Amino acid sequence: EDHIGAQELHWSNHGALAALDAKSVRRGFQVYKEVCASCHSVERLAFRNLVEYGAWSEEEVKAMAEEVEIVDGPNDEGEMFERPGKLSDYMPGPYANEEAGRAANNGALPPDLSLIVKARHGGADYIFSLLSGYCEAPAGKAMLPGLYYNPYFAGGAIGMPAPLMDEQVEYPDGTPATVSQMAKDVAVFLAWVAEPEHDERKKGGFRWITALGLAALVAGYTKRFRWANLK
Ligand code: HEM
Repeated sequence: EDHIGAQELHWSNHGALAALDAKSVRRGFQVYKEVCASCHSVERLAFRNLVEYGAWSEEEVKAMAEEVEIVDGPNDEGEMFERPGKLSDYMPGPYANEEAGRAANNGALPPDLSLIVKARHGGADYIFSLLSGYCEAPAGKAMLPGLYYNPYFAGGAIGMPAPLMDEQVEYPDGTPATVSQMAKDVAVFLAWVAEPEHDERKKGGFRWITALGLAALVAGYTKRFRWANLK
């Protein structure tokens, strides 16, 4: 074993009727935007997904989208052009291509985070552990330049410097922005990005069970009256 398994947290979204904590998803997006987005993309996320989820208002998200420059085109002259983002756009990533991403990170490539929760063993537990688990390398373990010790990362040496420090972001809802709080929020956000239909699916299942239950009640009740004269 060259690394340790993720800590198991008690997430709000485990269990049949549970849903992701929408306030945490919202805070986690803030962490992504203010901290992670300088190196990582979430290319499967469109601005409209934020509106659909319901933890942001349409005006808020439109304003966010307008702040980013989207490369569009080609136009009638066959040229690419830049325009402000709109709700239907996907989040633009930090680098033009893989080469640029590696060049900015000592050769390591920051992966797109859209599906990372599904792609890594441990899911959101792993993301939380990784982000909050940076510590001093054990005596005798030499770190090559550009690599940082993290016991949760396979091999123990990761090309990502610890991205979070206490109070790195300021949460408008007043939640103290400790490393573990931000790590949890961004893990919840990434769990949602990996499976945006998550809440719908659980709510959908609940609706089915309720509908079937009601149907059974109605059927039972009707039957009683229908056959009442045959008793
Ligand atoms: C790798 C998340 C911020 C650079 C990763 C991985 C995750 C992650 C989940 C994959 C680890 C694995 O392969 O198992 C995050 C989150 C961030 C953040 C949630 C914000 C809180 C940053 C920042 C930088 C960065 C600001 C650049 C300064 C990298 C690089 C890798 C990486 C270069 C590849 C490391 C390697 O393969 O050795 N990050 N990251 N990350 N991240 Fe980040």
